[in-house]
Amino acid sequence: MEEKPKILEEMEQIREQALAALDQVNDLESLQNWRREMLGRSSAVMTVFSNIGIHPKEIRPMVGQIANQVKQALETALNERSLLVKEAALAHKLTSERLDVTLPGRRPVEGGLHPQTKVLRRIYAIFAEMGFQVYRSRDVESDEYNFELLNIPAYHPARDMWDTFHVDAPGQVLRTHTSPGQIHVMRENAPNPVRAILPGMCYRYEQISARSEIQFNQVEVVAVGRNITFADMKGTLKGFVRRLFNADVRTRLRPSYFPFTEPSAEMDVECFVCGGKGCSVCKGSGWLEILGCGMVHPTVLINGGYDPEVFSGFAAGMGPERISMLLHRIEDIRYFWGNDVRFLEQF
Ligand code: PHE
Repeated sequence: MEEKPKILEEMEQIREQALAALDQVNDLESLQNWRREMLGRSSAVMTVFSNIGIHPKEIRPMVGQIANQVKQALETALNERSLLVKEAALAHKLTSERLDVTLPGRRPVEGGLHPQTKVLRRIYAIFAEMGFQVYRSRDVESDEYNFELLNIPAYHPARDMWDTFHVDAPGQVLRTHTSPGQIHVMRENAPNPVRAILPGMCYRYEQISARSEIQFNQVEVVAVGRNITFADMKGTLKGFVRRLFNADVRTRLRPSYFPFTEPSAEMDVECFVCGGKGCSVCKGSGWLEILGCGMVHPTVLINGGYDPEVFSGFAAGMGPERISMLLHRIEDIRYFWGNDVRFLEQF
């Protein structure tokens, strides 16, 4: 009986040592090191393969076969160990990081419509049902449209009602009200009757305070036709106010003055905070002013392209910020364009 070749014993040792070392491996890094050391190109097993030529020819196949078995055994053991190590690492991570998957997630912040967008849309909807279409006109107006065509000549004392921002270009201003839109609408439609509302930003050179901003929205209402009367105006505006606030709110018209309407008036609604008794919101009067209005002045009708002998019309202008302030009891107009989400979020 031939003596067992030394190489076989060596390989047995290689296997046992490697497996014993593997038992000590507990983390991914040592696992990588073990793989390099025990199965890498210069490892003991691999050296057996590269040195196969030093053995007598007859035993070479056997040496190769056994070296293969050792290599496979080490690989299998490595894979098993690797699973264990990974599981242990995960278990460790789960306990050490204490991830509570049952905790509710963080809600993403949702955007919303600006409170003014909402009020404007309500106004559009109410007037749309009464047959008024929405027109838009420019924010930068000529002095002619903003004043002269509206019966406010240069140096007319009524110009003091609108503190004006002038633009670099001569004769151009930031519109101080939406009324110049009346002229645009009339010129586009004359001599046909027309009903329109004109929303948009207006600008006034004023001291900013809780009650006045240098920029704010207005909505202009204009109707021109053959037999439009003051009663039509009153009925339309009253109907609008009742839909906006509530069905049985009382309204009143007070005489007023605007150069582009004659006669002119302002509409008040009964204070819905105190029901007309008098409180701090209505400053004790029981009434809240919400819009200016009047019958379109004959000069303005002519400027718009209508014959005042045949046509008549009414116009009104309101400030939706003021309406929001009344609806939501907002005390400072500066909140609207201050972009403070704490304010905006509430709507
Ligand atoms: N344009 C006026 C203002 O800004 C309001 C108004 C509009 C009054 C239409 C009467 C008719 O004060």
